[in-house]
Amino acid sequence: MSYSDQTRLSYEAILQDIEEKGLYKNERIICDPQGAEVKVEFPAGSEQKQLINMCSNNYLGLSSHPEVIKAAHEALDHRGYGLSSVRFICGTQDIHKELEARLSTFLGTEDTILFSSCFDANAAVFEALLDADDIMISDRLVHASIIDGMRLAKAQHDTYKHSDMKHLRKKLEMYQDRPRKIIITDGVFSMDGDIAKLDEIVQLAEEFDAMVFVDDSHATGFMGKSGRGVHELCGAIGKIDLISTTFGKALGGASGGCISGRKELIDLLRQRARPYLFSNTLAPTITMATMKVLDILEASTERRDKLENNMKWWRKAMAEAGFILVEGDSPIVPIMFYDAKLAQAFSKDLYQEGVFAVGFFFPVVAQGQARIRTQLSAAHDLEHLERALAAFIKIGKKHDILGKNKEELLKITQ
Ligand SMILES: Cc1ncc(COP(=O)(O)O)c(C=O)c1O
Repeated sequence: MSYSDQTRLSYEAILQDIEEKGLYKNERIICDPQGAEVKVEFPAGSEQKQLINMCSNNYLGLSSHPEVIKAAHEALDHRGYGLSSVRFICGTQDIHKELEARLSTFLGTEDTILFSSCFDANAAVFEALLDADDIMISDRLVHASIIDGMRLAKAQHDTYKHSDMKHLRKKLEMYQDRPRKIIITDGVFSMDGDIAKLDEIVQLAEEFDAMVFVDDSHATGFMGKSGRGVHELCGAIGKIDLISTTFGKALGGASGGCISGRKELIDLLRQRARPYLFSNTLAPTITMATMKVLDILEASTERRDKLENNMKWWRKAMAEAGFILVEGDSPIVPIMFYDAKLAQAFSKDLYQEGVFAVGFFFPVVAQGQARIRTQLSAAHDLEHLERALAAFIKIGKKHDILGKNKEELLKITQ
């Protein structure tokens, strides 16, 4: 240990400041597989509690599905535990090529490249495909991984106001002369759960000869009538140049991700994408389990249909109970508190009532926009949702926030 007390104290002061502002993120320890209910230890070492999980990205309830687990076991038996290589040296198995082809078919694209995570995919893409004269125009609420990816690129960056198509048009007009233009958006926005206007974005892209990049991590597997994603929902299958997505949410929930899209772009990513060239290949277990997930999704829409019904029920019930929700049509249902300490306190009380739903606050969301982000899953049965609703109402009464508007809520917390 080389550094001085002064350096140590400087870090301790930062941590203390985070804590004093009510922004410290404590980890809850889950002691069983992911599901509609989980055993949780919080704080670490305390007695385990059985909770209804209202905050996972296990949208389709496939994270612990027996067929998915079996496929992962088979991968261990037939393709081993790991490849000890990046893809282009000796890390490409037949199953990696097979999964890439399966994803292209599922997403309706020309080709797909796998990454160890969607974060890596987003970090790779812009730097590899754009030059200094090109322009990246992104929605102001895109995911942190996209922001980091844009930071790594030489191309210039500008933003348009969240989902504001007039503003996007203005920016496209402003940058008409750039050799390459790319519009960058999330499909479903992860903090608000609202959906990008992909149909309008595609029209604008065609008018201005721009590329379209969509991060569909919170949509692949369940948005659209057969679960292809927001491009299916918006009638834009085959019209999106680049789709990034994760296997770490609806598609089994382990880890891994990909970029899928136009063939020449994917080819170039294989040559240039740094996290692809310099990071280890996707583990065989995840590769084969993700293919099993695709089998399940292609065989039936039962899971995405159940998820949609759960989402509608929860949104209606929570609004009627008097909570402030961010409007939307996705299974991300944010309950607004605005104040970080209130969101934290509410989450702790929910925990005591058997509900697992965590507070989100700065820097995960903007200052003054603290919330509890609830997320629905096809693993939830009505009985889970009814119990969770009863707990929310009980705690809502305790804090006297039901039926209050934003200004009234802010007064309580000042
Ligand atoms: C919109 C979005 N993109 C990318 C990611 C990163 O995905 P991964 O966990 O595969 O790195 C996330 C995860 O939180 C996300 O919400």
